[in-house]
Amino acid sequence: MGKREQWGSRAGFILAAIGSAVGLGNIWRFPYVAYANGGGAFLIPYFFALLTAGIPILILEFGIGHKFKGSAPLSFRRILKNSEWLGWWQVLISFVIMTYYVAIIAWSASYTWFALGLKWGEDTESFLFSEYLNISEGVWHTGGIQWHIFFVLLVVWAVIFFILYRGVKAGIERISKFLMPLLLIIMIIFTIRGVTLPGATEGLNVLLTPDFSKIFDGDTWIAAYGQIFFSLSIAFAIMITYSSYLPEKAEINNSAFITGLSNSGFEFLAALGVFGVLGFMATSSGVPVQDVAKAGVGLAFVVFPQIINQLPAMNELMGVLFFGALVIAGLTSAISILEVVVAAVMDKFSLSRKQAVVASTAVTFLLSLFYVTGGGLYYLDIVDHFINSFGIALAGLVEVILLGWFFKVSTIREHNNPLSDFAIGSWWDIMIRFVTPIVLGVMMVLNFKTEFTELYGGYTLNSLIVFGWGVAIAAIVLGVMMKLIPGYKREEF
Ligand code: ALA
Repeated sequence: MGKREQWGSRAGFILAAIGSAVGLGNIWRFPYVAYANGGGAFLIPYFFALLTAGIPILILEFGIGHKFKGSAPLSFRRILKNSEWLGWWQVLISFVIMTYYVAIIAWSASYTWFALGLKWGEDTESFLFSEYLNISEGVWHTGGIQWHIFFVLLVVWAVIFFILYRGVKAGIERISKFLMPLLLIIMIIFTIRGVTLPGATEGLNVLLTPDFSKIFDGDTWIAAYGQIFFSLSIAFAIMITYSSYLPEKAEINNSAFITGLSNSGFEFLAALGVFGVLGFMATSSGVPVQDVAKAGVGLAFVVFPQIINQLPAMNELMGVLFFGALVIAGLTSAISILEVVVAAVMDKFSLSRKQAVVASTAVTFLLSLFYVTGGGLYYLDIVDHFINSFGIALAGLVEVILLGWFFKVSTIREHNNPLSDFAIGSWWDIMIRFVTPIVLGVMMVLNFKTEFTELYGGYTLNSLIVFGWGVAIAAIVLGVMMKLIPGYKREEF
């Protein structure tokens, strides 16, 4: 295991970090979350979360990766005795996310193909659920593997495998430098078309008209923090891993701001485009925008195809742009999510990159097959909900408490400042030590309360225990167990 791999240039690192941040969360999740949580008023908790938690944690994780030069478990091990488990917990969260993230990329890839010739037909809802997903009767019926999705999934996996196999510079950096500008161009064309459609202003009004009553609703804050953590790829080991490949002389603080703000830029671009398109649909079919805006899967794979059918011109092009953007955004995030696992096992078990990529891909691939069964959508929905609320957000809370209170966190700031374009002041310590733990802590209590008083998504308690709580708790337990396994034989620092 030679020297640690490195990015070839600063731009390469930043593009890879933005590539990780900008993902499915930006294009299909943000527009709906913003709309459902007060429209324009959502921007207040959103920016609060971005500036008090998102960017400060990004600065923290960039600093950790650069200073301690290890995957998340190794970095935490070097920071604080007995905190390696936190790194493994975050790695396992990434591992779980990876298993379903690839399935959504596979659906998007299929739909990019379906867009040519509008193969989804008139009834896009029954096309998605009956023909494409062939959804089973319920959680306890897997319905077997859907082979037409499986083969697309296989291609997605092959691409990810190939990129990671080639390594940090020749694989991740190279593909990010190519795909991120391409994604930006696609999103700009899509958004310009979206906001210039007849009726688009109707949609934009709904998105941007603030409903201030939502600001006093705890759920809005939970949604804002959840969005920021998932979207910025923080608290699930990604940014620590990516910054561990930075060279000795590397800019940190400004890179964190650039990454955070670019991610939000992409998010707004997507939201404007999506709501422009929704406005068009609402106006042309005479129903309120509220009635056409749906969450996640419904918005992307039911409502969008429907709208694409109705566009006055260039229907297929808009379809290819939208689903193609999902594929590209998804791929550059997926490689970062699996790289977390690859780096962690490489460090711990002294494996070569190639061995680690083969092993990590094989295991994750097998588990991803769950999501291409007839019951896949149910598992995805439950696992995603629990791993976000009781995985990412909780791991983020533990991270700021552990680093803020059991470690002199200002040493990271002092490490970053001389390297960076500008210095950050002690306000940053206050964010990490006080503001973020308090807000996240309150959020967690509210989260637990909601979870115990109502069954998520109307699923049965048993299914939530197995696929929701079970998976979230397993990530912690296995994280602790990984720490107990001996490793790091060739640890050199
Ligand atoms: N940050 C990635 C996303 O937004 C995981 O999808």
